[in-house]
Amino acid sequence: MAQDDNGGIELAETSSTALEEHGLGDGRIGDPGTAVVLDDAPVNPGFPEHRLRITDRDPKHNRRAERTVYTLFYLSIAGSVWAIAAYLAFPIESGKISDLRLSTMLIGLGMVLALLGIGIGAIHWSKQIMADKEGIDIRHPVRGTDDTRERSIEIFEQANEESGFGRRTLIRNSLIGALVAFPLPAVVLFRGLAPQNEDPVKDLKHTMWKAGMRLTKDPTGLPIKASDVTLGSVFHVIPEGLDDTDDVLDEKAKAAVLLMRLKPEDLHVSKGRENWNYDGIVAYSKICTHVGCPVALYEQQTHHLLCPCHQSQFDITHEARVIFGPASRPLPQLPITVDDEGYLVARSDFHEPVGPSFWERNS
Ligand code: FES
Repeated sequence: MAQDDNGGIELAETSSTALEEHGLGDGRIGDPGTAVVLDDAPVNPGFPEHRLRITDRDPKHNRRAERTVYTLFYLSIAGSVWAIAAYLAFPIESGKISDLRLSTMLIGLGMVLALLGIGIGAIHWSKQIMADKEGIDIRHPVRGTDDTRERSIEIFEQANEESGFGRRTLIRNSLIGALVAFPLPAVVLFRGLAPQNEDPVKDLKHTMWKAGMRLTKDPTGLPIKASDVTLGSVFHVIPEGLDDTDDVLDEKAKAAVLLMRLKPEDLHVSKGRENWNYDGIVAYSKICTHVGCPVALYEQQTHHLLCPCHQSQFDITHEARVIFGPASRPLPQLPITVDDEGYLVARSDFHEPVGPSFWERNS
């Protein structure tokens, strides 16, 4: 009963006093609105009997648990190294989807091993080796007195002593090693995202679109006839010959386009852009001008394009101007027309850089 500071015995005593005041100390119900039936008072079950773990009783098991813990931490280090090695040994520069999948899978395996090694090792350490005492912490004000602070330092030192963090050097060092090694794959992987050339602006300023290049469906690469694009339909488009480029993924990331057909009278076309659409068919960059997510949600009724990342919305009837969200400029338009066979082709590259604006500020 003393284990419960606020409930249990104190509550029962208060109720008993109240009942005696009302002359109902014998457990009978007097006033049904306020009476408390003591017979039904919950009983504090207390703590179950403490049982020593096998690692507390047998030093052999304790040593085995210790070995398991540092082995898991070393496995974590191996996982981190594996992830880096997989990234270097299985490059994705070919742009082939099969290479991308293999690289992603092997890097993922390494990172899973690294995370699980640390996680399971830490749990095993705390459950099998650290001190297994049960105690009661009485609640107290949040701001501790100086005495409390001193006491907390003592507790830290006690925890250090009981967990063996300072004493069990193999476990401690392997854990530190695992924690240091774990972020390394991220450093190497993010480095790979950096532009390969000295002048990234030059790289990003142009896409592979050029005059006469056919618009094809993503991912089949089949050319699109203007007559296939019905009113209200939308096509995800890539340039013809994309698969033959040296860097398919990079080129696709810049040149991806969305194609839609509206009634020509619904389009508000500015001066100089009169021939950029073909009979109401318009093509816009699919790369959001905020931070580059694919803008892939088309609302047929309103003719709005929605970017799912931060909800920027672009109005296709007004040359994809921004009507909501953090994007600061319209989606670049790809000028299009048809060739002799009726297939849709580009008139030129985009007339402005696609994607986020941050890198073109100084150009
Ligand atoms: S990337 Fe499109 S709104 Fe942020």
